[in-house]
Formats: sequence, C-alpha cells, structure tokens
Amino acid sequence: METVLSGIRSTGNLHLGNYFGAVQNFVKMQSENHCYFFIADYHSLTTHPKASDYHANVKQVLVEYLAAGLDPDVSTLYVQSDVPEIFELYLILNMLAYKGELERTASFKEKARKQAENINAGLLTYPVLMAADILIHRADKVPVGKDQEQHLEMTRRYARRFNQLYEVEYFKEPQAYNFGKSLVKIPGLDGSGKMGKSEGNGIFLSDDAKTIRKKLMRAVTDSGPTELNSKPSEPVENLFTIMELVSEPETLKFFKEQYANCTIRYGDLKKQLAEDIITKIAPIGERIKELSENNEYLAKIAREGAEKARESAVKTLNEVREIIGVRKFV
Ligand code: TRP
Repeated sequence: METVLSGIRSTGNLHLGNYFGAVQNFVKMQSENHCYFFIADYHSLTTHPKASDYHANVKQVLVEYLAAGLDPDVSTLYVQSDVPEIFELYLILNMLAYKGELERTASFKEKARKQAENINAGLLTYPVLMAADILIHRADKVPVGKDQEQHLEMTRRYARRFNQLYEVEYFKEPQAYNFGKSLVKIPGLDGSGKMGKSEGNGIFLSDDAKTIRKKLMRAVTDSGPTELNSKPSEPVENLFTIMELVSEPETLKFFKEQYANCTIRYGDLKKQLAEDIITKIAPIGERIKELSENNEYLAKIAREGAEKARESAVKTLNEVREIIGVRKFV
C-alpha cells in the first residue's frame, strides 16, 4: 500500500465544489491507501489570523471533513501543530532551501504582491514547511491542485539534496496523486467559472435550507431558449451540471427536455434544484451540527490522530538526526 498525505488549509468552509471534487476523492482514497490527512494550521500564521479565531477555524475544518466522510479509524487524521517533529524537520530542511529559489516561487511572488505590508520569512519558507509535512511521513503520493505543484517539486528537490549531501538514499521523491477523470469541476452559481468561496457563487455544506433556496433564486441564468433544441448557454448548462450531481436522472431529463422545447421556466428549475441540493447535503449538515457540539469526541479524534502521526514522525526524525550526525552524550 502506498502512503498518501493530504494537507488541508485551516480556514474556509467546504462548499459543494470541494465536496464533489476533492473531498469525495479523499473518502475513496482512504480504502486503497495508507492515508494521512492533516490540518495545516501553522501555515495559516503567515497571514496573522486573530487568536480568537484560530481554534474555531481548525475545529470547523475538522468537523466538516469528518462529516463529509473522512474516517479516523481507517486514516490518520491530525492537526499539524500537534506534531512538533514536523517543525524540527522544517528547521533542518531550511538549511537545504536557498533564498533565491524561494523568492522565485510563484506562490511567494503572488502573496508578496497581495500582502506587501507583511512579507515575512514564514511566507518565504512556506514551501519548506510543506516539504516537512510531506517528508516527515516519507509519503509516496500527495494530492495537489495546480497551484501546489511547484511546492511538490520543491519537496522533491529538498529530498534529493538531503540524500546527496549525506550520501544516503533516505527520502523518496513524492509524486502527485492523480484523481484522474473522477475530479469533476463544479461550476458556481454566477454564470461562469467554478465554484469558489466568493459570496453568492457557492453553496456551503453548512448552509441551511433557507440560505440554499435564496442562493438558488439569485443564480444567474439567461433570457430563455428561443429556438428548438438549442444548446444551453453557460449559466444554464452550469445549473444542469449541478443537477446531474444532486437530482434524480428523470428530473434532469425533464428540465433538459423543457429547455429543448422552449417551455422551461427557470424559477421551477431553480426551486427543484434547491430542494435536491438540500436533500443531498442535509445528512452532512446534520453531522456537522452534531460533531460541533461534541467537543469530547473531537478531542479524542485529535489526540489519537496526533499519537498515530507522531509514531511515524518520531521515527523519521530520529533517523534524520542519526544521518546528520546528531549524537547524544552518553
Ligand atoms: N499548501 C496547501 C494548500 O494551500 C496546504 C498544505 C500544507 C499541504 N502542507 C501540505 C498540502 C502538505 C499537501 C501536503 O492547499
């Protein structure tokens, strides 16, 4: 079995796009691999979150991923800041990361532009911390989006450098975990592009029925088909795409036929779609509520996850120290 490691940002609620995209693939991945999932909370310090929000953010992410189907009995699920070995490895890897390279990283250049008043060293070495996350478990595969590919490439480079410097074949070079065709792109409700965090374009797993109905009513459509059997415009096609995921096949067929014969009423389509989304995500919403109120259970999950993660992390770190030549006085 391969070891697969997934890092999850510690801020942001899951929307339908995340759920039908990456998260459902995570859930599938669990049974076929030795999986680590962790919440990358220390990475978020680069943007100085308020102390009073910090834990709530981590909790929300943990709750939503559990509700969506991550199984702590099958996978190792932990919070980054609970595993101090990662940060010692981060320090060690920093000696193998060159300033010029870090400054040329696309994500750094973008963030430096966006937060010119806060270009801290943590931002610069963000990819090194990510490399430590991955190498601490000597993971084979990492599911990454396009924006993270360069970081994975840098991880491979640090692994190679370590091996060369100490003349060992210790770290393997982690590769991207490919979801292949199963990674569906979920469009937003604003007519074009994919679902994101922006207001109005997304539906969150934690949204209640009223909110979902309201968001659907505001979804962008067009002025309606005027020719028989015409191809739907992008905004309408997008609603059909979401419908395909949440509605019965007959429902989709019914509205597509109505579109084709120009009798469709978008109000009806939106109402139906809202109800089908509500039905589909209601059980997850329920679990989100239940889990949020069960701090004892969450504490147990986090504690046990950290224990499991540290077993592997301590082993790697001890081996790394040994390779580097760090010795105890005896
Ligand atoms: N940088 C990733 C993101 O923004 C999150 C992350 C941190 C990560 N450490 C990781 C992802 C290790 C994969 C592996 O989405």
